[in-house]
Amino acid sequence: MPTTLEAKTPRLVTALPGPNAKRVLEQDAKFMSPSYTRDYPLVAKRGHGAIVEDVDGNSFLDFAAGIAVCSTGHCHPKVVAAIQKQAAELIHMSGTDFYYESMPQLAERLGQTMPGAENKKVFFTNSGTEAIEGAIKLARYATKRDKLIAFYGCFHGRSMGALSLTASKSTQRKGFGALLSGIEHIPFPYAYRCAHGHTAETCGAEILEQLEGQIFKRLFDPEDVAGIIIEPIQGEGGYVPAPKFFLQELQRICRQHGIMFIVDEVQSGMGRTGKWWACEHSGIEPDILCSAKGIASGMPLGAIIARESVMRWKPGAHGTTFGGNPVCLAAALATMDLIESEYKENARRMGEYLFGRLADWTKNFKIVGDVRGRGLMIGIEIVRDQRTKERAADLRNAIVDLAFHKGLLVLGAGENTIRLSPPLLIDQEQADFAVRTLEDCFREVEKKI
Ligand SMILES: Cc1ncc(COP(=O)(O)O)c(C=O)c1O
Repeated sequence: MPTTLEAKTPRLVTALPGPNAKRVLEQDAKFMSPSYTRDYPLVAKRGHGAIVEDVDGNSFLDFAAGIAVCSTGHCHPKVVAAIQKQAAELIHMSGTDFYYESMPQLAERLGQTMPGAENKKVFFTNSGTEAIEGAIKLARYATKRDKLIAFYGCFHGRSMGALSLTASKSTQRKGFGALLSGIEHIPFPYAYRCAHGHTAETCGAEILEQLEGQIFKRLFDPEDVAGIIIEPIQGEGGYVPAPKFFLQELQRICRQHGIMFIVDEVQSGMGRTGKWWACEHSGIEPDILCSAKGIASGMPLGAIIARESVMRWKPGAHGTTFGGNPVCLAAALATMDLIESEYKENARRMGEYLFGRLADWTKNFKIVGDVRGRGLMIGIEIVRDQRTKERAADLRNAIVDLAFHKGLLVLGAGENTIRLSPPLLIDQEQADFAVRTLEDCFREVEKKI
């Protein structure tokens, strides 16, 4: 019989949380910052592939992947070997002041994946937030302008600059005072809730009109705008894809006015949608692309990738002590090998399979309003009434909790959406388990309303 970690599907052996988990929860409540947002009491101990084992020996199928991070699954042997080899050789040097060969190696490979013929240059960071923070600075530096335009619902991080772009939940801003000035937010093209009744292909025309007809005429002269930043598929905001025409039009507007087109691929990138970057599905070529999360299978790494003609800041203009640490870069190189050779294609294939299995859910369940996304970035929006589309955050939360008690880890996104963001290596048996478990949860929740 396979061990719990080798098995493909989960096994629960205690009530949840188990006794060891309870001890950790008590200690955590006493000593940890209360700002963390845990939905259920999973206390992880080990992971392998898409399976996570907790401190009591319960195993779970992980359709959250540490918030879309463990792209190659937990502790992929090739990633572990790369980390171990590098840790025994050189742990830290600081790429700001010294050279090591994995830095330009990974930069070259990342640059080749970003759309556009021009050579790319890369700055490595420790996180997605830092990549965004650096992108704000780079856009301002490259254009000698300071205004920025971002979208409601988007999440770009929580440091003061990144938070100024984030417009996801007001709790993320409440109590922190003034942020960066010179930032305007405009609506994100959210097809399911399109005020103008457009489809997923055409939603957003009025937003572009607002940008050109109102923002540029009444607030910011476009020649003062340094950058427009967008997630091609909104992540924290509810797994909402931006229509292809919308991204193409944004690019046209940026090019017309010399504005940097910045794409935040922190959550949607690194093969999750079946291509390296979600923006590739729209045929756009951003000026600056931010990556993190799945880039190093769980090691802390982010990257600002930009056209060579854009990333021309002078020595000292930007730097970091840890960003691009050799151990993280080794993990990223191994991650890229795996995504390139198998997992990008697997994400496409398993995404298609999952969308096929979820195709009738708006018919089968009265609380499912919308199923959307691409590849293994799937959002299921939960509503109280399909006609009024009233958001049902309580039902969504109940489903997320129930799924945990059945051995499936999922997370919420936005106010009332369930996100499926498994490791890119899942197979059909695991996809089927997730679908069956969610069906059971939906039925149970529907019975109670
Ligand atoms: C699209 C996007 N941008 C930026 C960030 C911030 O990344 P990090 O949490 O690594 O700082 C996140 C994190 O969820 C994200 O989803």
